[in-house]
Amino acid sequence: MHLSPETIAAHGLADSIVPPHPPRHPGRIGVWRQILLVWTNVLAVFQEKDFATRRIRQGFLGQTLHVCNHPDGVRETLHRQHATFEKKSPPMRHSLAPLLGDGLFVSDGTTWAERRAIVAPIVHGRNIHTFAPVMREVAGEWCAHWRAAGDGATVDLLFEMGELTAEIICRTVFGSRLGRENTHEIIAGFAQYQRAVQLFDPLTLLGLPDWMPRPRSRRTRRARDRVHRVIDGIIARFEAGGTDAHAVIGQLFAARDTAGRPLSRRAIRNEAIVIFMAGHETTANTLAWAIYLVSQSSRVRGKLLAELDCVLGGRLPDLADVPRLVYTRMVLEETLRLYPPVPLLGRTASAAGTVMGRDVAPGDVLIIAPWLMHRNRDLWSMPDHFVPERFDEAVAPRPNKYANIPFASGPRVCPGMTFAMTEATICLAALLQSFEVRLAEGAEVEVDCRLTLRPSAPLPMTVHERRAA
Ligand code: HEM
Repeated sequence: MHLSPETIAAHGLADSIVPPHPPRHPGRIGVWRQILLVWTNVLAVFQEKDFATRRIRQGFLGQTLHVCNHPDGVRETLHRQHATFEKKSPPMRHSLAPLLGDGLFVSDGTTWAERRAIVAPIVHGRNIHTFAPVMREVAGEWCAHWRAAGDGATVDLLFEMGELTAEIICRTVFGSRLGRENTHEIIAGFAQYQRAVQLFDPLTLLGLPDWMPRPRSRRTRRARDRVHRVIDGIIARFEAGGTDAHAVIGQLFAARDTAGRPLSRRAIRNEAIVIFMAGHETTANTLAWAIYLVSQSSRVRGKLLAELDCVLGGRLPDLADVPRLVYTRMVLEETLRLYPPVPLLGRTASAAGTVMGRDVAPGDVLIIAPWLMHRNRDLWSMPDHFVPERFDEAVAPRPNKYANIPFASGPRVCPGMTFAMTEATICLAALLQSFEVRLAEGAEVEVDCRLTLRPSAPLPMTVHERRAA
C-alpha cells in the first residue's frame, strides 16, 4: 500500500518509529544455524531478501517447504485449495496435539467441519452484545488494580495483559470468574508449554515419531497438565451449576454431532482449551505490543489521547463507542500488521496441487507467512515503520484483503475476530485514557516467536496516572 512522499509530508509521518524485529541475515544461513533458529526464534531464519520474494521453495531436513509471501498464494491455499492443504501436519500435531487433542484448531475434514459448526457460534460476533459489557467491566477493574498499585508502579505488561484477557474469556465464555490463583496457573502453564515446544520441531520434520522423547518432553507434559487442571476445574464448576447457567460454554454440552451424539468429555475439554488458548493469548500479545508501540511514538500517543478524550471524556468505553474509536482501531490494525500473533500459517499438502504456478507434491509443507507479507517491500510503503495512518482511507487506499491477514482468511478464518477487535479496542481505550505507560528504564524489547509472536518476557513498563489535560 503506497504512501507517497507528499502523503508522508502532509500527514507528518516522517517521524514514524521502526520498532524491533529479529535480526535479518544478509546472506545464506547454514543448515545447523537454521535448525538452531527454528528451535529458538523461528522468525530469525528469514533474510532481508525474503521480504521481497513472492514465493520461496526450500528443502529443509528432507521436507520441501513452500513459503508464500503474496496475496495470490493466500487465495490459492487458504481459499481455493483449502481442503487439499490441511493443518494436520506432523509439526502441527507435535506442537499442539498434546495440548489440544483433536480440537478444532488442529483438526481437518469432517471433525473440523463438525467442531467448527459448534465452536464458531460460541465466540461469534453475534454474541458481542453480551460480551462487551463484561469486557468493559474487566477493563474497569484493571484500571482500579493499576491505580491501587501506585503511581509509577512497574508491571510486567505481557503477563498483565495475559491475566486481563484470560479473565475476559473466562467470564464471557465460561460464565465464571477465573480467580487469581487459576489465572496465574493457566497463564504460567501456557507460557511453559510455549517454551517447551516449537512450531516446526526439527526432529519431527526429520521423521522422528511422536512417541520418541524430545529434549523437553517432560516439561511439555507438565505444562499441559497445568492447563488441563484449570480447564477441568472450570468445566466441573459449570457442570455443578456453580456458574452462569446461560454461559455460552453450555453450547458445548448441548451440541450433537451429525449422528446425533453429544460430544465426549475429552472433546469438550479439547474445545474448551482451543477457545481459551486461541481467545486469550493472541489478544494479550496484541494489547502488549500496542501499548508498547504507543509508548514509543509521541505523535501516535498524542492523536490517540485526543480521540479518547473527545469520544469518552473520562468514561469507560462501551460497545457503542467502538465504531467511534477510529484511530484506536487503526493503532490496533497497524499493531497486528507489524506483529501478527500467528505469524506463520502451516499447512501440509494431502494431495498434489499448484500454488502460484508451481507444483506442490503430496506431503510438501506450505507456510503462508503473514510475517513476511505484512512487511512485503512491494505491497507496503515504510513496511517496518509503525504508521497507524496507513489504515485511514483518507490517507491511503485500503490494502488488498489477502495482503493483510492477521486473522487468516478463507473457511478457517478466525471466528473470534470481532470478539478480539472489540476486546482490544475497549481495553486499550480504557487503559490508555487513564494511564501513561512507559517502558521501564534500561528495559529492552525483543521479538519472541515460538507458537505465537509476542514481546520477549518480561516486559517491564511503568504505569503513571494521567492527569486531566
Ligand atoms: C488478536 C487476536 C486474534 C488473532 C490475531 C487471531 C488469529 C487467528 C488465526 C490466524 C487463526 C487461524 C490459524 C490457522 O488457520 O492456522 C485463528 C483461528 C482461531 N481463532 Fe483466533 N485470533 C485472535 C483471537 C481469537 C479469539 C478472541 C478467539 C475466541 C474467543 C479466537 C478463536 C479462534 C478459533 C476457535 C480458531 C480456530 C478456527 C478453525 O480452525 O476453524 N481467536 N485465529
